[in-house]
Order: sequence, then C-alpha cells, then structure tokens
Amino acid sequence: MEFALFCTRVNFLAFLLALSSPCKFIQSPMDFGPLKLLQTTNTASLDFGRIYFNTPSAVLRPQSPEEISVLLSLLSASSFCEATVAARGAGHSINGQAQALNGIVVEMDSLPSSIKIHRSADRTFGPSYADVSGGTLWVELLKETLRVGLTPRSWTDYLYLSIGGTLSNGGISGQTFKYGPQISNVIQLDVVTGSGELVTCSPSKSSDLFFAVLGGLGQFGIITSARILLQEAPHKVKWVRAFYDDFETFTKDQELLVVSMRDKVDYVEGFIVLNEGSLHSSSFAFPANMSSIFPQLFQQNTSSNIHYYCIEFAIYDQHDKKGFINVGQVLEEISNKMSFMSSLVSSVEVPYFDFLNRVNIEEVNLRRIGLWDVAHPWLNMFVPKAGITKFRDLMLQTISASPTFEGPILLYPILKDKWNSNSSAVLPDSEDNVVYIVGMLRSANPNTCSQQCLENLLQQNHQIAKTAIDPGMGIGGKQYLPHYTQEEQWRAHFGGKWQRFLARKSDFDPQNILAPGQAIFKRKYSRSRSKGSSNVLSSQ
Ligand SMILES: Cc1cc2nc3c(=O)[nH]c(=O)nc-3n(C[C@H](O)[C@H](O)[C@H](O)COP(=O)(O)OP(=O)(O)OC[C@H]3O[C@@H](n4cnc5c(N)ncnc54)[C@H](O)[C@@H]3O)c2cc1C
Ligand SMILES: *[C@@H]1O[C@H](CO)[C@@H](O)[C@H](O)[C@H]1NC(C)=O
Ligand SMILES: *[C@@H]1O[C@H](CO)[C@@H](O)[C@H](O)[C@H]1NC(C)=O
Ligand SMILES: *[C@@H]1O[C@H](CO)[C@@H](O)[C@H](O)[C@H]1NC(C)=O
Repeated sequence: MEFALFCTRVNFLAFLLALSSPCKFIQSPMDFGPLKLLQTTNTASLDFGRIYFNTPSAVLRPQSPEEISVLLSLLSASSFCEATVAARGAGHSINGQAQALNGIVVEMDSLPSSIKIHRSADRTFGPSYADVSGGTLWVELLKETLRVGLTPRSWTDYLYLSIGGTLSNGGISGQTFKYGPQISNVIQLDVVTGSGELVTCSPSKSSDLFFAVLGGLGQFGIITSARILLQEAPHKVKWVRAFYDDFETFTKDQELLVVSMRDKVDYVEGFIVLNEGSLHSSSFAFPANMSSIFPQLFQQNTSSNIHYYCIEFAIYDQHDKKGFINVGQVLEEISNKMSFMSSLVSSVEVPYFDFLNRVNIEEVNLRRIGLWDVAHPWLNMFVPKAGITKFRDLMLQTISASPTFEGPILLYPILKDKWNSNSSAVLPDSEDNVVYIVGMLRSANPNTCSQQCLENLLQQNHQIAKTAIDPGMGIGGKQYLPHYTQEEQWRAHFGGKWQRFLARKSDFDPQNILAPGQAIFKRKYSRSRSKGSSNVLSSQ
C-alpha cells in the first residue's frame, strides 16, 4: 500500500534518496497519490526562537486543504505509521512548536492566499467578517480589509504571524481587554482533523471541534480557513506614553484604563524601563525622541533600585453614533484621572495602519544591525492581579544578574471574562477578572551572549516560570505559548481542563499525529509491524 512508505523513517528516507531527482522532490505521483513531498526546505526546521532545529523527514507545500486531508488520511489509515505532522504558519514560535522531528512539516504559506470580505449592511443581519485562508499573515488581512474601510478588532503586536498560528494560541495585544483575544473574534473555522476529515465548525456546528482548536496548540486539526469578525476602521490613532516611578501606581492606572475607561480607550499596554536599552528597544516605533523628551529616564542610576514604568495607550479616531469622537477631549478626560509622573507624558498621532504595524519598524531596524535573526529566549506568563507585584519582584531579582538585558519587558492587564472558557486556551484559575500578561522578550545578541550565556538565560526563564506556577509560591501564573516536555507538566498546566483536553485529543487526533513539537502527546502506532512490509520500498 502506498502509505506504508510513510511508515518508517529510515525506509522513507531511503526511498526519498533513491528517488530524489535534481529538483528534489518526488516525481512519481503514483507513490503518494496526488501529493508531492519535498525532502526539505530552508524553513522547515527553523523558527524565531532559534533554540531548536529539529529536522523533518519531508515537507508538504500544499496547494489546497484537500492535499492536507489526503496526507492525514493516509497517515492515520495505517496503524504502523509513526510519522507525525506539524503545520507551520509563519514559524514565529520560540521552542520548536511548529517543527516535526522525523515527521512531515506542512508549510501553510503555500496554500493559495484567499481573503473574502463580507460587509454587513446592517448589524441586525449579523456582523461584517472576512473568510481568510489559514496560512495568510495578519498584515495581509489588514491591508485587504482597509481597502474597504474595515478591520479586524483584536490584534497581536506583530502582524507577520499567520492566522492559523495565532488562533492555535490566543492572539493577544493591547486590544485584548476590550474585545478579547483573537480567538474570541472568530466565528467559524475550516479544519482538517488528525484523521484527515475536512470539517466546517462554529459555535453552533461541530462546536466541540471549534472550541478545541481555538487555543488548542495545533493538537486537534489544521486550520485551513477562518471567519474573522470585522468592524469599521479608524483613520488615525492617538498614541500616548505616560511614565511612572512606582509600580503600584502604574498598575492601578492600567486597571483604571481597562476596567473603568473601557469604552474610551482602544488599546492599553505597558512596559518596564529596565535600562536605557530597554527604553530604546521599546521606542523604535514611537515616533518621538524619547531621550530628548525624557532626559531624566536616561540619567537613571543603574545601581539604585528604582525602575521606571511606562503605560502605552491609544484612542482611535473613530465615528461613533454621534459622529466623530473628539480625541483631544477624550485624552484630557482620561489623563485627568491618571497619576503618571507630572510632565512625563507624550502623545503622537499616527495612521491606523502604521500604529498596528509598529513592530515592523523595530524589525527593520534590528535586521539592519543583524539582530533580528538571533536566538530569542522569550518567556510569556499570565499572572493574576493578586500575584503581579510578587512576580515583578521575582523577575527583577532573577534578571538583575544580567545587566545587559536586551529586549522589552511588556506588562499589561487583560480581562478574563473576554475569553470563552470552552476554548482550549489556559488562563490562571484566580477569581479576579484582571489578569496580567507579562512578556520578557529577550534577544541573545551573539556579539555579547555566547552559547553558555544563552543557556543561562533559558535557565533564568525556567526558574521564573517554575516559581510563578508553583501553587505554594502565591503567584498563580500560567505560561502563554507554553513550553513543557513532560506529561505531568502539561497536566499541571491544563489543571481542571486536562481531562477535556485528553478527550478532545482522542476525538480529533486519536493517533497523536499533529503538532509533535508541542511535546504533549507521543505518537501512537503499532510496533509489531512485520519486517516484510518494508519490501514495498524496494519493489518500486
Ligand atoms: C516578533 C513576534 C511578536 C509576537 N507578538 C505576539 C503578540 O503580540 N501577541 C501574541 O499573542 N503572540 C505574539 N507572538 C507569538 C505568536 O503569536 C505565536 O508564536 C504564533 O504561534 C506565531 O504564529 P505562526 O504563524 O508563526 O505560528 P507557528 O510558529 O508556525 O506555529 C505555532 C503552532 O501552531 C501550529 N499551527 C500553525 N499553523 C496552524 C494552522 N493553520 N492550524 C493549526 N495549527 C497551526 C503549529 O503546528 C505550532 O504548534 C509573537 C511572536 C513573535 C516572533
Ligand atoms: C534624540 O535626542 C538626543 C538628545 O537631544 C540626541 O542626542 C539624539 O541624536 C536624538 N536622536 C534622534 C534619533 O533624533
Ligand atoms: C547611585 O546610587 C548609589 C546607591 O544609591 C550611590 O551610592 C551612588 O553614588 C549613585 N551614583 C550616582 C552616579 O548617582
Ligand atoms: C460552552 O459549552 C457548553 C456546553 O457545550 C454550552 O452550554 C455553553 O453555552 C458554551 N459557552 C459558551 C460561552 O459558548
């Protein structure tokens, strides 16, 4: 049978090598039905983290969802197969989550990009939305929707991520407090399950699969299309930064914005000004010269324990029912209620697209100085409001050993009630509705950070995460974009949601084929395969 060819890596490789032609892919459609597998690509074993480099046995660059379905049907039809399958979106994972050691990587960027916009004439007939293919980048969706004056509501900071990739995690940014994460702003999905079934699902149709896939870490199916909610796009954005020298005041003001001023403000984030570098690295995109506006931030005495904090918020220049919002007036109203250090506030007005695409300016800058394609030992945590001060202390104590911290530390609140608890995404179990997301987005500059140094940074992250999730330590955190290698760690991560996660896995990917790079499940296959069947290879 054709699919026996997939079934042992050694034989599979031997087969590939035997047949490999100069153009490096299998020419004989007979052998794999309609599928053409590549031996490898430049991207299949690479991700943004540059920490793991697991090589697959083969790569599929599908032209249609049906090809993905054929691949998964073949693999799941044989109980002897041990090949796994990882969808790779934009490969912006940190810890090899989109890699498949000795398996097959499905590169989603090869699916023909398709964006179909439905504009609702009247909200009573339902909302406006876009149907977009799973490998499409968010920036492409934004460009397309803006042509007709519409926009998705909920974002990530960086837009060169795939639709399917962020929906497999959550998708969070400064709009999350208001609209929920990206997984709360999708109303239908086309999915290929682990057994190769093509299913269209929504909250009312195959809802179990729909909610399983959202935040599901790629475990239940491959998203080939998503229906994303849209709203009217603003033209301009008032983008504000306000500084604090006191953590309590900083977080109190952030909570004021996301709880009491929810309707007035459209985006809220924040970061810790750890050193001059961290201010610079978070300021590339802010089109005001921070060092000339706030000289005192740069005269920080680094041996003292004072840190500065910055709240970043934005008001969209948008129509509302009464006409245009007076942005200046709203800003004044908001500022009057806040307690930032007097005079330490700065605002600029930028086009909506430039605001959403702000991290791209950092990318361009970092690429220019060769610091984009470097190792990224990132750690992202959700921390309940009650544990945030303790977590800040833990974080600052642990990293004080590294005076050359490079990269921003983001810290801002989101609201739990904007997340659908039926999805697979995991938040802290805390009672309070306010939860902080903390992103320690470090770069390991190869000029100053050796392999040993990188390992130290990873060890620091490990220490911080371990303490933050330890129920005895009083922080109660959960990892976002989690990275664990042992089943009991995953069990603890999912907590009360673990049994449901297991049940969903056995429903939708019973042989544990999908997303092996997450290291949650071991591939199931029969080891008792008779030696004789490998002859299929030589008999070709
Ligand atoms: C510079 C940068 C900025 C970031 N900013 C943010 C941010 O502001 N907010 C935020 O929430 N995240 C952010 N992230 C993290 C990002 O959302 C995740 O890493 C996300 O997984 C990246 O999407 P991707 O398309 O690159 O996914 P990949 O790395 O390709 O894949 C991630 C996981 O999803 C699976 N997967 C990929 N495509 C599909 C699909 N179509 N169907 C099913 N499973 C699939 C993969 O198998 C893998 O397990 C950022 C990352 C970077 C590098
Ligand atoms: C910012 O301002 C400082 C101090 O005025 C100046 O030295 C520096 O060159 C300016 N940087 C940019 C990018 O304009
Ligand atoms: C920085 O602070 C430390 C401790 O508070 C103090 O001893 C030192 O003199 C300060 N340095 C400068 C340059 O202000
Ligand atoms: C979650 O799932 C349950 C059971 O299927 C359902 O009754 C409930 O309405 C769902 N909640 C939401 C918010 O979708």
